[in-house]
Amino acid sequence: MKTANQDIRPVTTKINNNGNIEIGGCDLIELANKYGTPLYVFDEETIRSITKSYKDAFKSYPHMKMMFASKAFITKAICKIMEQEGFGLDLCSGGEIYTAKSAGFDMSKTLFNGNNKSYDELNFAIEAGVGTISVDNFFELALLNDIAKSNNKKVEILLRITPGIECHTHEYIQTGHLDSKFGFDLTQLDEAIELIKEEYTNLKLIGLHAHIGSQIFEKKVYFDEVEVIFKEIKRIEDKFGIKLTTVNLGGGLGIKYTEKDAPISVYEIAETIIESININSKKYGIAEPTVFIEPGRSVVGTSGVTLYTAGSSKQVPNGRKYQAVDGGMSDNARPSLYQAEYTVEIANKPNLPADKKVTIAGKHCESGDILAKDIMLPEIEEGDIVCFYTTGAYGYSMSSNYNRALKAAAVLVNNGKSDIIINRQTYEQLCEADTIPDRLIR
Ligand code: LLP
Repeated sequence: MKTANQDIRPVTTKINNNGNIEIGGCDLIELANKYGTPLYVFDEETIRSITKSYKDAFKSYPHMKMMFASKAFITKAICKIMEQEGFGLDLCSGGEIYTAKSAGFDMSKTLFNGNNKSYDELNFAIEAGVGTISVDNFFELALLNDIAKSNNKKVEILLRITPGIECHTHEYIQTGHLDSKFGFDLTQLDEAIELIKEEYTNLKLIGLHAHIGSQIFEKKVYFDEVEVIFKEIKRIEDKFGIKLTTVNLGGGLGIKYTEKDAPISVYEIAETIIESININSKKYGIAEPTVFIEPGRSVVGTSGVTLYTAGSSKQVPNGRKYQAVDGGMSDNARPSLYQAEYTVEIANKPNLPADKKVTIAGKHCESGDILAKDIMLPEIEEGDIVCFYTTGAYGYSMSSNYNRALKAAAVLVNNGKSDIIINRQTYEQLCEADTIPDRLIR
């Protein structure tokens, strides 16, 4: 069965009677007029369609726990949706922990990941009642044990490993191969376990964690990942007599940014994982463990679009036509960082033929601030509303104030209603943290 990550557009996208693109029953031009641009628009139905697909696809394995990878996009409203959908949260910073906690999220359903969690963050995680901590390295083991001891707590941990599986995705977002900054190399695992057994008595090892990469289109890597982890669990049981009950497979399922992408469905990835669990639990004699997955991009990516207003343009004599919009690398770093490509439409001209080649440029003082290079669109005029699809994941979450651009607003649309979930930043907020030392004031 097809799932929402396999489409470029949110599930509710259509062309309405005004001849404009509509999402979640809301006319994109009206949204742009009401809230201003750049504007992130999130379709609630698409998010819930994907979370439901995940639950449905994994329902034959009752020990499954879905943890939304918050790094893709976290706000208090998203925490509420995840709570309603029965998802936990994978958190990777003090800021993400704070967001979940302030949204009233049940913190026992969260886990904390990261390769250099600070003392303050680990302490905050323990105080906030984060359910599980995935420990990445020896330094963190010692640090976390100290913090747990001074809080008089025994903390449940996973050990993050690099399983040595390479997937075919952009080099910057591969994580499971051996030369990675994340996790314990398999050859270091025994030393970590000895330390937990002998010295770090405030830590309780419950399982292993791996994350092999992001924007993955292959099934086999997940099959192999389960096998590598189950094999380790068996080896650990034989060598140390420790029975591990939890396996975290990370995230990574890809989405469709352009027609060139052919991601697999949530059902296909679930089928592969469950098949591998069944085969390998028999092969290694392991009772059915609790299995976490941490999908981020596939949960929110397709639900989000970004609206911009077209402004100035430049025709290079005998060269490219550049059309500038009122945002850029500050609200979407992905094109300049990963050469990421997007599908673009003009929200007020969805029916006109896309017969003009144009390059969509951002407004930042940087030549590399290009959002989409040499794409085909109808003739763009100043004031047109340009819609970039699939910006829901790693768009807002990687946004910056470069050139002191204000962070854009985000609205959640559903059934003809739109609600702000992130207010547009103001100039006052922008300068809120600035201070002027007395000696500079004469
Ligand atoms: N779990 C862990 C431990 C991770 O590091 C990540 C992503 C995920 C889960 C979620 O992976 P997803 O399902 O979203 O693929 N900024 C990049 C993506 C970086 C992904 C980092 N880790 C981008 O914009 O493509």
